[in-house]
Amino acid sequence: MLKIGILISGRGSNMQAILQAIKAGFLDAECTIVISNKADAKGLEVAKSFGSQTAVSTDEKQILGILQGHKVDLIILAGYMRIVGKILLDAFPNKILNIHPSLLPSFKGLNAQRQALKAGVKISGCTVHYVNEKLDDGKIIFQEPVPVLDHDTEASLSKRILEKEHVIYPKAIQLYSEGKV
Ligand code: GRF
Repeated sequence: MLKIGILISGRGSNMQAILQAIKAGFLDAECTIVISNKADAKGLEVAKSFGSQTAVSTDEKQILGILQGHKVDLIILAGYMRIVGKILLDAFPNKILNIHPSLLPSFKGLNAQRQALKAGVKISGCTVHYVNEKLDDGKIIFQEPVPVLDHDTEASLSKRILEKEHVIYPKAIQLYSEGKV
């Protein structure tokens, strides 16, 4: 069975969706470790409530050691607010996934939903992609469109996109585990 390690920095709602999908039997994977670069990340408590092992580290070499110690096959970035460096990229080539709240390659980087509103697009969405050395740039695995409504605020659009994120991230990981991506 595919062993995943999830990296977070904050509330961890995507992580929660993935752990729920595993628990419900929708996703054939085992989460062997959740690592946060922030000791006060709310997601750490959520991970513990699912019985997941957790760790906190900001040092990429140490993070690699923890992931290897937990026999991780695939790294899942879920709101991990750090650029992944060479140490992890070299050790996990094409084995790191991320989710981004836009239809890449549009609106890379921070505040993607705000960027979409500013650009006036009528459709945005979310993307699961492989991670490479550039920000939000790797090969696209799965995308889901989300309408941008006339009365949308950054908060309302973010909420609508997040609901789709929670659906497509477990799906994309399942496709990966079946060797379909
Ligand atoms: C999500 O919008 C995700 O697309 C982006 O960061 C946010 C993380 O949210 N990469 P959460 O921590 O999963 O709730």
